[in-house]
Parts: sequence; C-alpha cells; structure tokens
Amino acid sequence: MDLKEYLNSKRLDIEKALEALMFPEEGLLAQHMASMRYSLFAGGKRIRPVLCLATAEALHADPTPYLPIACSLECIHTYSLIHDDLPAMDNDDLRRGKPTNHKVFGEAEAILAGDGLLTFAFELLSDTNVSGSLNSNDRIRIIHIIAKAVGSQGMVGGQALDIASEGKAIPFETLQFLHSCKTGALITASVQAGAVIGGATENQFKALTTYGKAIGLAFQIVDDLLDVEGTEEELGKAVGADVALNKATYPALFGLDETRKKAIYAVDNALAALEGFDDNADYLRELAKYIYYRNR
Ligand code: IPE
Ligand code: IPE
Ligand code: MG
Ligand code: MG
Ligand code: MG
Repeated sequence: MDLKEYLNSKRLDIEKALEALMFPEEGLLAQHMASMRYSLFAGGKRIRPVLCLATAEALHADPTPYLPIACSLECIHTYSLIHDDLPAMDNDDLRRGKPTNHKVFGEAEAILAGDGLLTFAFELLSDTNVSGSLNSNDRIRIIHIIAKAVGSQGMVGGQALDIASEGKAIPFETLQFLHSCKTGALITASVQAGAVIGGATENQFKALTTYGKAIGLAFQIVDDLLDVEGTEEELGKAVGADVALNKATYPALFGLDETRKKAIYAVDNALAALEGFDDNADYLRELAKYIYYRNR
C-alpha cells in the first residue's frame, strides 16, 4: 500500500469509529450535538489519529482495538480548531472547506461545541468499556500524556503565546517554543499514545518522542508556509490570514527559502530518530515526508 492508500484506509476506519462513538443528533441537545458533529465530520486530514495508529503498527501491534484512543485525539484537535477560529482568536470564516462553526451555530455554541469535544475526548480515554484490552497503567499513562500535551504547558499555552505575540517581533527561540506548544505537543502526544499502545521499550519511546517533536514542529512550519503559498481551495481555509493578523510565523521571521530549509531540517531529524526501527516504521517515515510535501 502506498501512503495515499494507507491514509485513505485509516481515515475511513477513524471516521467509522468516530461516527459510532459520537453522540447522536437528537433530543433536547440536538443542536449542541449537531454543532460538534458539524466540525468533526467536516473533513480534515486525520493526521493525529493516523500517527497514533501508525506508531503502534511500527511496533508490530494491531491498533484496531484502540481506535477510540486515536479518535479522542481528533476530538481534541477539532475543538482546538473551533476555538482557534473564533472572533476573539483568529476570526476565520472558513474551515475544512465549510463556514466555521461560529458562523453557522453562533459564538456561544461554538465555544460549547469545543468544550464538549475536549471533555468527550477524556470521557472516551477513561472509559474502560472502550479499548477494553488496554491495561489500567497504560490507560492512565496515555491520559496523562494527552492531558499534559493539550493544557497550559502545551497546546493551550501555545495558543496563548500565539495571541500575545501578534504584532510583535519575537526571538527565534520563542517562536520555536510557540510552534512546539501550539501544534507540536498534540502531534507528539499522538505518537506517544501509539507508542504506549504498541508496548514501546524506554529507548523506543524516547526515539518516537524525538520523531514526534520533529514532525510536530515541521507541521506548523509548513502550515505557516501554506498560509503564504497554498490555495484556499486546497486548504479549505483562508490564506494570507497570518500576515493580515501580524502573526509570529516562520516566513515572517525568516522569509520563505529559510523557512523551507528549517522544515526540511525538522523532517530529516524525524527520519534520523527512526533509524533503529524496521520496515514496519515505513509509514511513519512516509508521513514525515508527507508533512513537508503536503498542499493541504
Ligand atoms: C490545522 O491542522 C491547525 C494546525 C494545528 C496547524 P490540520 O492541518 O491538521 O487541519 P485538518 O485537521 O486537516 O483540518
Ligand atoms: C492553530 O494554528 C493551532 C491550534 C489550533 C492549536 P493556526 O491558527 O496557524 O491554524 P490554522 O492556520 O488556523 O489552521
Ligand atoms: Mg491560530
Ligand atoms: Mg488559525
Ligand atoms: Mg495557520
């Protein structure tokens, strides 16, 4: 299977599992459920859950019973996008090729849809009836990894720094930290969750963490590049938004050529971290390259 086929088949698995797990759109809370489902099923590359599954596979595990763990990562990611698009944050009108959540459901419901998705992720992760074969120690370890990654020392902190840095010239180290927090942390946690599922040794866990950090940074650098060089049609979101808001980005600090070099350097670091792994890690290798070459 080439990467494209692999991604498509994993996306189908993830979407089927999400559909089965997510609350139905009925009863007195139908509108709230509709709002969560609207953003969750609007498309999206599903990179974070795919990384979780591919990491378990790199360690020769069958990740199928653990699909709900992977789905929880997508719920958290979708919440972060709904809130990121709010008028008080990036004020965007288009996401995943559709009007943003607050444009359709209003700001209050968009905030609540995000809150609902974030909380649902931890409901899923902590439910011993889902992914039931996961032992308690591994489950708690995964919950801790994800909670830490998406809180104030990770994604939320990164988003706070992103907003606080608008219109400011920040030093390289701060920008790298910002990107590693707002986007890198959840991507790293996705890989780490897959590593726990796959029963990684301590050394394997360390190597996979290095891989996750490197692709996480590359992912946001390329996201910045696509905001300059991509198209609205392919990305399903507005382009030029970072310049319009005077965001702290790699292209703003380094220009396009140097930014591309920094993304390639991060991908190379990710590939180097996988040196001790066999052919089963090939999809992780392909995913690292895809993160650089993607156009959406
Ligand atoms: C966009 O994430 C926001 C960032 C963290 C850079 P993705 O590029 O993964 O968006 P979807 O999930 O495919 O829509
Ligand atoms: C978003 O970064 C990061 C998170 C949602 C945590 P961006 O603001 O650059 O993402 P896009 O470009 O709107 O997708
Ligand atoms: Mg943002
Ligand atoms: Mg944004
Ligand atoms: Mg962006």
